[in-house]
Amino acid sequence: MDPIVRFQNICKTYDGRSQVVRDLNLSVERGEFLTLLGPSGSGKTTSLMMLAGFEMPTSGEIYLDNKPFSGLPPHRREIGMVFQNYALFPHMSVGENIAFPLQVRRLDRQEIVTRVRRALDMVQLPGVIDRKPAELSGGQQQRVALARALVYEPAIVLMDEPLGALDRQLREGMQIEIKSLHQRIGVTMIYVTHDQQEALTMSDRIAVFNGGVIEQLAVPKTLYDVPANAFVAGFVGENNLLRGRLARRIGDEGEVDMPGIGLIRGRLGEVAEGQPVVLAIRPEKIALGTGSCPPGEGNRLSGNLIERIYLGDQTKLTIQLPDRQTVTVKAGSLLFDAAEGPVNVSWAPEDGIVFAA
Ligand SMILES: Nc1ncnc2c1ncn2[C@@H]1O[C@H](COP(=O)(O)OP(=O)(O)OP(=O)(O)O)[C@@H](O)[C@H]1O
Ligand SMILES: [Mg+2]
Repeated sequence: MDPIVRFQNICKTYDGRSQVVRDLNLSVERGEFLTLLGPSGSGKTTSLMMLAGFEMPTSGEIYLDNKPFSGLPPHRREIGMVFQNYALFPHMSVGENIAFPLQVRRLDRQEIVTRVRRALDMVQLPGVIDRKPAELSGGQQQRVALARALVYEPAIVLMDEPLGALDRQLREGMQIEIKSLHQRIGVTMIYVTHDQQEALTMSDRIAVFNGGVIEQLAVPKTLYDVPANAFVAGFVGENNLLRGRLARRIGDEGEVDMPGIGLIRGRLGEVAEGQPVVLAIRPEKIALGTGSCPPGEGNRLSGNLIERIYLGDQTKLTIQLPDRQTVTVKAGSLLFDAAEGPVNVSWAPEDGIVFAA
């Protein structure tokens, strides 16, 4: 373990009353791609701003290479930043924009020219050096912003929703480019998004923020397969969260009583018997039983198919249970023809996880 950055007991309030970041402890490994993922207002940008030096923690300390960071102004922190709205200087050419951080640092002219060229090559954008930002597409502008953040070779690059303003296709292309750039140059990247798909695609590790605390910090696969609690289960990927009460524990499984529906089984999180719980089950793990297609083994529920949405490669079906809770099922497009009305759904008990409600 070789953390480059460490947040220690960081708290932040802007108004003296509400805690926007609460006792944040987070170590960022050297060279990793770490994503802060969370809903709007959960404290992601605030955490980045404190690291960059634009906001001061109310209490706690941030360390860089085990040295306290507070007191160091932003321009002395050697951190590159990329924001959602690019923040390029509109009156300067692309080359001048990228050269700017080097001129501030008083590098000599020849060195600046070489580095600007190299940075433009790095983001695969040669031939636009004399254009103004307004003469570039959104994706190209974002690449210029990236080149400007990388040009002085900072040890850390922070990105706050850098792809938020781009359309879906461009966003997915840029995700792959940023990821491969990270692998090539080995810089430490701290990336903010509220798009869980983007986080899963790009990150070495993901910290899931909620209300100013980290709910879980893990590699993408663990976050998806073994969420720590009901919030993470609901926020990362799609999940059905079915409410009930834990009737009894059977080894590492639990039996959940759903009034009007019956008993369903699932893997157990930290829950005591009698407690209100949610059972999380992913839509793609559920099989649908219709007239011609019988239900599978394991947990079986009956309900009414009330909605079908055609997604191209898949069909998303909504089934209403007798207690009016709904279950979403994702299945191959063949099921698009399933008739609305009574159906059965089933899934293997080990695919569901029981959490405290
Ligand atoms: N400069 C500020 N002054 C006062 N309150 C602020 C300030 N900046 C942020 N906040 C508040 O702090 C909380 C956290 O904001 P923050 O910008 O860190 O959230 P976020 O996770 O980045 O959200 P989003 O996904 O919407 O960008 C919010 O309730 C916000 O209203
Ligand atoms: Mg933000």
